[in-house]
Amino acid sequence: MTDRPSAADCYPPAVLPSPERQLSLKGQKALVTGGSSGIGREIAIELGWAGADVVVNYNSGDEEAQEVVEAVEQRCGVRAYAHQADVSDEAAVQGMFQRIQETFGGIDILVANAGVQRDAAFDEMSLADWDMVLRVNLTGQFLCCREAVRAFRRKGVVPEVSCAAGKIICMSSVHDSIPWAGHANYAASKGGVLMMMKSLAQEVAAWRIRVNAISPGAVRTPINRDAWETPEAYHALMKLVPYNRIGEPSDIGRAAVWLASDYADYITGTTLYVDGGMMLYPGFEAGG
Ligand code: BGC
Repeated sequence: MTDRPSAADCYPPAVLPSPERQLSLKGQKALVTGGSSGIGREIAIELGWAGADVVVNYNSGDEEAQEVVEAVEQRCGVRAYAHQADVSDEAAVQGMFQRIQETFGGIDILVANAGVQRDAAFDEMSLADWDMVLRVNLTGQFLCCREAVRAFRRKGVVPEVSCAAGKIICMSSVHDSIPWAGHANYAASKGGVLMMMKSLAQEVAAWRIRVNAISPGAVRTPINRDAWETPEAYHALMKLVPYNRIGEPSDIGRAAVWLASDYADYITGTTLYVDGGMMLYPGFEAGG
């Protein structure tokens, strides 16, 4: 890359956070992939609360997506629309970014959240299930991040809007670090997200593009219903969560707002674990 900005262009920050700007995303345009349910739904709503216009991407479930759009528009008074696209389909992702450009005039925040689980014992895992999880969780994030970086670089920093030219939040998992028997495809995809995120952050920092990840622990969503639905399952789950409660999707939504805001302007290439302490090796509390 030859057109790296000089140090003089990069310092001091174009905009210092002001009291009004704190945690405000006013005037910013955000895309949340997998935004029709679970964690993505709550991120879309929290971003709207913070003042951003929001695109709610989904693959299936038009009604759910439309319901999120209405919640964002009515409760938050910002603009929103739903866009159907499979994030692992290159042309569909490019079409989605094209529409954002035409509708909102650009993009400031990407939350690459869409993800799936297809669990199986390793020796019984089909290639289809392996491929499906890697395509959606890792290749899907690559395709969305690539289009976002292209758009951010075209736009550059707009000081009235944000200190950064763009912000990317990759949705990862505690399983980017904690091995997970019976879920090798999922853990491999999130381990891949971790290093893609860091490598990308290193590559685009000079353009004032911040790239970070959020790694949720156990959060009350449809993806892991079996782990919290019955009192027995919940009790077993709590052995893994020192903070002794399940995460709620809004726990992740609020973390995403902060990470996307100028409050977090000096943060890039990091993973924020939002997990009630799941990463703290709770088994060692009384052992070892
Ligand atoms: C998975 C959940 C799981 C959690 C903690 C998440 O990434 O999607 O199914 O409950 O990690 O193990």
